Amino acid sequence: MSKTIIVSNRLPVKISKTGEEYTLSPSEGGLATGLGSIYKKGDNKWIGWPGVEITDDGDRQAITGQLADLSLVPIFLEQEEINQYYEGFSNEVLWPIFHYYTSTYAVYRQSNWDYYNAVNHKFKDAVLAIAEPGDVIWIHDYQLLLLAQLIRNEMPDVSIGFFLHIPFPSHEMFRLIPWRKELLQGMLGADLIGFHTFDDVRHFLDASTRILPVSSSANVITTGDRSVVVESFPMGIDEKKYSSLPLEKEVIEQVALIKETFKNTKLILSVDRLDYSKGILQRLQAFELLLQLYPEYCEKVTMHMIVVPSRDTVPQYAHLRDEIDKRVGNINAMYRNMEWTPIHYYYRSFPVETLSALYYAADVCLVSPMRDGMNLVSKEYVASRINNDGVLILSEMAGASKELIDALIVNPNDTREVCNAIITAINMPLSEQKRRMKQMRQLVAKFNITHWVKIFMDRLKEVKQMQRSMQTR
Ligand code: G6P
Repeated sequence: MSKTIIVSNRLPVKISKTGEEYTLSPSEGGLATGLGSIYKKGDNKWIGWPGVEITDDGDRQAITGQLADLSLVPIFLEQEEINQYYEGFSNEVLWPIFHYYTSTYAVYRQSNWDYYNAVNHKFKDAVLAIAEPGDVIWIHDYQLLLLAQLIRNEMPDVSIGFFLHIPFPSHEMFRLIPWRKELLQGMLGADLIGFHTFDDVRHFLDASTRILPVSSSANVITTGDRSVVVESFPMGIDEKKYSSLPLEKEVIEQVALIKETFKNTKLILSVDRLDYSKGILQRLQAFELLLQLYPEYCEKVTMHMIVVPSRDTVPQYAHLRDEIDKRVGNINAMYRNMEWTPIHYYYRSFPVETLSALYYAADVCLVSPMRDGMNLVSKEYVASRINNDGVLILSEMAGASKELIDALIVNPNDTREVCNAIITAINMPLSEQKRRMKQMRQLVAKFNITHWVKIFMDRLKEVKQMQRSMQTR
C-alpha cells in the first residue's frame, strides 16, 4: 500500500514546556485541518520541525514517541540551524524578496545559504528514511524549495507535489537572489507545482525559462527528460468551522460583550501575524488620516487591532513591533478622550472562539497587506458573517482579492483610498452589504480547504499518470 508524506517546515502542533515536561497541542491552522484528512490516515505521515529547540536526547526520544502516535515525524533543528536556515535564509532572504522587499529587508550571507542547503538535506534524509516507491510526497512552502529535487535525485519515479504558500515574485525581483538557479532547480524536482494565483504561476514560468535552460509550453516546463506542471490552486479555509462557531454559546457570550463595549461606535477589525508584509503601519496611517481629515468620525469609529507575535527574533520584526507600539501610542494619545480610545491594540494570540466573536461582531474587517500569497483572515471574516452583513476592505496585493471581488478592493499604498474605503464601509447600506457578502460567502463555502486538498491531490495523481504513460510510449 502506498502512502502520502506531507513535509513542511513546521509540524501542525504546538509544543510547550512546563517544568521538565513537554506538552503537545494540535495546531488550529487551516493547513493542519485541511491536511488532517490525509496525514492521519493509514501509514501516512507529516514530517516537520516541532518549532522549539530541544537538545536533550531523552527529551527528543520522548517527543518523537508522542508525535508518532499522531502520525507526525519531527526534524530537530540545532540553534545554529534555526538562526541560519529559518531566520537567516528563509526569513531574511526568501520572505522579503518574495514579498517585494529588497535592500533593507533582504540580507545575503553565504553561511545562511549553506545552512538552508544543509537543512533541506536533513529533511530529505527524513523523507528517504520512510518513503517507498509508489508513495506520494507533498512539500509545502518557501523553507523547503530545494527538497523536491533532492528527493528526486534518489527516487526518480516518486510522485512529488510542491505548493508555495507565499507569492512567487516577478523575475525582476527573483533574479536578485544569488542562488536563484539552485532554488528553481530545487522546485522543478516536483511533478506538480502549485501557487495561489495565476500571477504567481506566470512569474514562476517566466523566471524558470529566463534563468534556466528549460522550455515551457502553456503551463508545462520541460527540463531534461521530465515535464513539470505548474498551476494555480487558491487555498480555502475550514468554512464550516467559521460559519458554525458564531452559534456556539461561548462565542455568543463574547459577541454580546463586544457589542456592549462598542455600542456607540462602528468596529473595524484588523488581525495579522506581526509582519512588515501585512501593511500594519500603513493601515494605522490611513486610520489616523480618517481621524485627522474627518474629525466627525472621532468617537464613532474604533479599531480593534490584533497582532499575533511572530519571528520576533528576526531584527526587522522586532523593529516593526516597536514602530507599531509607537504609532498606536501616538494616535491614541492624540485623539482619545475619557469615553473613547481610537485603537484597541493587542500583541498576542487569541483562542479561535474570541476571533470568531470579533469576526462576527465587527462592522468592517480591514485587510490591507502590502503583499500576501492568499490571506486567510479575509476568508475567515467572510465565513463568519452568517447574516450576510459586514464589509470587507481588501488589498489588491493579497491573493484573495482575485476571488473576493465583492470586497472594497484598495491599493494599500494609497492612504487616501484606504481612508475613503473605511468611510464607504461604515456608511454602506445594509442591502449592499448583504449583496456583496452573500456572493463572497458562497465562494468561500464552495472553495474550502477540503476542496483545495482534493483538487491538488487529484491533479498530482493525473499528472503522474500522464508522465508515466508518456514514458512507456
Ligand atoms: C506563513 C508561511 C508559513 C509559516 C507561517 C508562520 O503563513 O507561509 O510557512 O509557517 O507564515 O510563520 P512561522 O515563521 O512562524 O512558521
